[in-house]
Amino acid sequence: MSGDYKTGAAFNPTAFNLYESWRAKADGGGDDQGRKAARAAVARCEILFNSRPIQITDVKGLNDDSGIETLPGPCTTCHGTPTSGNHSIPAPLDIGLTDAKRRTSDMPLYTLRNKQNPELVVQTTDPGRALITGKWRDIGRFKGPILRGLAARAPYFHNGFAKDLDAAVDFYNERFGLGLTDAEHDDLVAFLLTL
Ligand code: HEC
Repeated sequence: MSGDYKTGAAFNPTAFNLYESWRAKADGGGDDQGRKAARAAVARCEILFNSRPIQITDVKGLNDDSGIETLPGPCTTCHGTPTSGNHSIPAPLDIGLTDAKRRTSDMPLYTLRNKQNPELVVQTTDPGRALITGKWRDIGRFKGPILRGLAARAPYFHNGFAKDLDAAVDFYNERFGLGLTDAEHDDLVAFLLTL
C-alpha cells in the first residue's frame, strides 16, 4: 500500500524473493532441461507477482479510504507481507468477490438496506466484515490470506469462488482488466503453486 501506517516507512513491493537464486541459475547448472524451464517460469513469475502493474479500482477499503480512484500497483499492493503474502497491515478489502453478479447457485443472496438512508440497498452473497462491525462501509470486505501452502487448499477465496489457481488468476484478469498473456497466466499459476 502507501507505506507503514504506524512508522511511515516506505512501501516495498518486492514481497517475494524466494526464487532469486533460480533466476541466476535458469540458464546454467547441470539440471535437465525440463526442470530448468520449470524453475525459470517460477522465477519469472515471482518478478511478475512483485511488479506487474494492476490498475486497482473500486476496491472498498483501498480506493475509497485513500481517495485514489485508480491505484496502479502489483499483486503485492495487497499481498505485501514478505514471503507470506497476506496483508501487511490490517486492511479488510472488498475486491468484488461477493457482488451479486458473481453469485453461483450454492451461495446465499442477502439484500441489505441502509438504516440512515433506506433508499440505499445492496445485494451481496456475504456481508463480510460488516457482520462484525455493523458498518455499511464494511460490506463485502475480507482480509487477504497468507498465500503459502496454496497448492494444498483449493478451492480459493473465502467462498470457494475459484475452483483452482487457474480460476483464481482468471478472476483477477477479468476483475482488473489485466490482459494477461497465456504465458503470464501460466507463470503466475506455476509460482502460486510453489508457495
Ligand atoms: C486490491 C487488493 C488485491 C490485489 C491487487 C490482489 N489481491 Fe489477491 N486477495 C485479496 C483479498 C482481499 C483476498 C481475500 C479475498 C476473499 O477471500 O474474499 C485475496 C485472495 C487471494 C487468493 C486466494 C487465497 C486463498 O487462500 O484462498 C489468491 C490465490 C490471490 N489473492 C492471488 C493474487 C494474485 C496472483 C494477485 C495479482 C494478480 C492478487 N492476488 C492481487 C486482495 C488483493
